[in-house]
Amino acid sequence: MASSVPTTNPEVLRERVRTLKKERRALILAHNYQVGEVQDAADFVGDSLELSRKAASADADVIVFCGVHFMAETAAILSPGRIVLIPDPKAGCPMADMITADDMIRWKALYPGRAAVCYVNTSAAVKAECDVCCTSANSVKVVDSVPGPEVLFAPDKNLAAWTATQTSKTIIPWDGYCRVHNNIRAEDIRSARKKYPGAEVWAHPECRPEVLALAHRTLSTGGMVREARATSAEEIIVATEATMIYRLAKENPAKRFYPAHEMAFCANMRKITLAKLVASLESMTHRVVVPPDIADRARVAIERMIQYG
Ligand code: 13P
Ligand code: SF4
Repeated sequence: MASSVPTTNPEVLRERVRTLKKERRALILAHNYQVGEVQDAADFVGDSLELSRKAASADADVIVFCGVHFMAETAAILSPGRIVLIPDPKAGCPMADMITADDMIRWKALYPGRAAVCYVNTSAAVKAECDVCCTSANSVKVVDSVPGPEVLFAPDKNLAAWTATQTSKTIIPWDGYCRVHNNIRAEDIRSARKKYPGAEVWAHPECRPEVLALAHRTLSTGGMVREARATSAEEIIVATEATMIYRLAKENPAKRFYPAHEMAFCANMRKITLAKLVASLESMTHRVVVPPDIADRARVAIERMIQYG
């Protein structure tokens, strides 16, 4: 067992992660918005959909989920036999908290017969009340796949509005949003384009419609990673959480990436640090457990999403 003397030396912390990972038979998953030191220590870095798939197929005793709480819950639901840990239990998603299971039950009752699609950025209890989940990478496919011409979509009104532009279905949105993405304004895009006139603009679909209207591409974080490798563009303004630039720049050193908004940081994603990852593996905390009755119902909605693409 590695020593538990506290240290901030990054090389020592990285070595501890390597040792503890073997001892625990642990898999470390990290979201694309995690700080660089955490991404670099992870076995896999990805978007919400990619991370769900990895969690579902994990061959490990322990999954340490470096991301926000709903993501770790999804991993726990998809891997019921495994221990799922989150290095900071206070890393939540304020958008996910904008709808509760009771809200969802009441809302569905107002619109009988409509399929309820919920973004993965929701609690397990909300997922349990939905027909199917989606992520920003597959919302269009999911909405197209559910029966009926009208669909309830929660909680992100911006993702709902963008999805509605890509499908012939009528989407009835919940009034939620991500503060980080909603704070990026059309004016930020216009000034970034003045500063970098040759740059393309890529935006995450959690951004406001007027921001998406100014973007060349609307992409999930995983879509941005793939597009960054494929594009011939040399300069890209990225309208999403600003830590995203870390991976894009690291993997594409010949290209230049600029944040649309310098302060677009998700404070919750940034609660996870390398030191907390070490502490999590050492003390096997903080365990994420979803009550089986909720997990069984939420799993149906998440597995449908994975099937739909
Ligand atoms: P992605 O699924 O695109 O990674 O987005 C997750 C998220 O929380 C965006 O704010
Ligand atoms: Fe939630 Fe927004 Fe943070 Fe994503 S960036 S985890 S939607 S608060």
